Amino acid sequence: MINKEQLNSNIPEHVAIIMDGNGRWAKKKGFFRAVGHENGTKAVREAVESSAEIGVKYLTLYAFSTENWNRPKLEVETLMKLLVSSLKKEIKTLQKNNIKLNAIGNLESLPKKAQVELLEVIEKTKSNDRMTLTLALSYGSREELIKTIEEISIKVKNGVISPHLINETVINEHLYTKNLPDVDLLIRTSGEQRISNFLLWQIAYAELYFTEVLWPDFKKSDLFEAIYNYQKRERRFGKTSEQLS
Ligand code: IPE
Ligand code: IPE
Ligand code: MG
Repeated sequence: MINKEQLNSNIPEHVAIIMDGNGRWAKKKGFFRAVGHENGTKAVREAVESSAEIGVKYLTLYAFSTENWNRPKLEVETLMKLLVSSLKKEIKTLQKNNIKLNAIGNLESLPKKAQVELLEVIEKTKSNDRMTLTLALSYGSREELIKTIEEISIKVKNGVISPHLINETVINEHLYTKNLPDVDLLIRTSGEQRISNFLLWQIAYAELYFTEVLWPDFKKSDLFEAIYNYQKRERRFGKTSEQLS
């Protein structure tokens, strides 16, 4: 068990989490998948509060992917209802901890009720500045890149941007994540070692951390363990080890 005192001051600025394993957690206990998702929301609160506690500035959570629309209708409905009830309930947690809510993804595809609730919490927390919590909802990285290419192409066509001036900054400015720095640490729970269409551009130089822990079981100490592991790594960004020291 890793505790806060074992971490040094090198806290990743941007942590992103693929919260996976709710279904398997429920199955193992003989519950419906919905119970796994419900318990997953408790793990969300713990991850949010403990990230803020140690000074993470940006926490981005993959809550629902573009591909997740293909799940059984009832499960999708359950997830959307949970989103609405969690937003209603957790506004208090966000205010208490001075956390700003943000959302990325094709938000228009969410049920109206979820959109309204989401916008309300975003509006109410917009002046909070301790940490930005971004929920990826109906998010798919390829869809984001297609949208980005489309928007830039229109600007080129209208003479607003010249093609040879397209660079990383221009692309960053057209992504859903335009207000967020690159991801430093990407965590995925449940033992799966894949990215599942999450932040493909933004994780170009992120450290990847995979754990067998199922999302509803992911506790504060699991987050600290991921960060402890991150702190032991050397991020070279293409350079040699000697150049860094
Ligand atoms: C993650 O848990 C939650 C969402 C993708 C919405 P899963 O529901 O994918 O859980 P497993 O992978 O079936 O265990
Ligand atoms: C990724 O989990 C999406 C979220 C955590 C929201 P999935 O469980 O949908 O991923 P795959 O389909 O197993 O790769
Ligand atoms: Mg899964």
